[in-house]
Amino acid sequence: MDTLWSSMVKRKQEITFQKNIFLWVRVKRKVFLGCNMSSIVLFGPPGAGKGTQATAIMGKTGLPQVSTGDMLRAALSKGTDLGLEAKEYMEAGKLVPDELILLLIEERLKEKDAENGVLFDGFPRTIPQAESLSKITDVSMVISIEVPDENIVERIVGRRMDPETGEIFHVKFKPAPSEIKNRLIQRKDDTEETVRSRLNAYHSQTAPLAGFYQELGVLKIINGNQNIVDVTNSIIELLV
Ligand code: AP5
Repeated sequence: MDTLWSSMVKRKQEITFQKNIFLWVRVKRKVFLGCNMSSIVLFGPPGAGKGTQATAIMGKTGLPQVSTGDMLRAALSKGTDLGLEAKEYMEAGKLVPDELILLLIEERLKEKDAENGVLFDGFPRTIPQAESLSKITDVSMVISIEVPDENIVERIVGRRMDPETGEIFHVKFKPAPSEIKNRLIQRKDDTEETVRSRLNAYHSQTAPLAGFYQELGVLKIINGNQNIVDVTNSIIELLV
């Protein structure tokens, strides 16, 4: 009993310490750098609809989307060292090591359009990523799109992407106009087998972040198991 109590007290102290650190970093950034950067995180399992909903959030907030998945795929198609290193993890449905992801994020956040904050899509995905992020930017809201695992496989396997515009479609839930259907592509990791590994990685390494952000008071939960427009409307309500 004593051990349980002391571990609860210890955890509480850790949370208070973490909150104070966040506050300190925030004040320091404002006072010394004159910068008031505040970001939003889109959080949820693979196929929850993060990329789909990012467009509406960008329109509403003006924040640029920063998708680590898109950045890794771009690095891979350019054949950079980082892209090649990430390749085997992505194709196996595993998370890319934190050090590589944090390098990408640090570089991206130096860009001019990121100075007032960004919309993170698919980042952070581990507690160390979230802790590193807290030293770079405030996170004002984490939008968690919840979808049961049994709906995820159908979404992922039916996903198609327009390589010219980046728009995301679905063979059943969001069919593309017939004039562009021939140019649509399917992601290499969008197979039934890989999605199961991605879901495992999500539950073991990423889902604990919900508790992390809940304790910081910024987590907002959205039912992602509705049609796309209803999910968008629920998110927009959070942003007004
Ligand atoms: P990433 O590209 O981030 O993939 P993901 O998180 O698995 O997310 P998805 O892009 O698959 O799904 P989404 O939630 O954006 O859904 P979407 O809107 O497209 O990451 C890929 C890989 O890169 C990872 O596996 C990992 O290896 C690596 N990686 C990336 N970031 C990392 C990080 N921070 N740390 C470590 N490794 C990292 O929707 C899916 C489909 O469903 C679409 O067809 C869409 O039309 C449809 N749909 C959307 N909403 C609905 C709805 N409400 N109803 C019906 N259908 C819907």
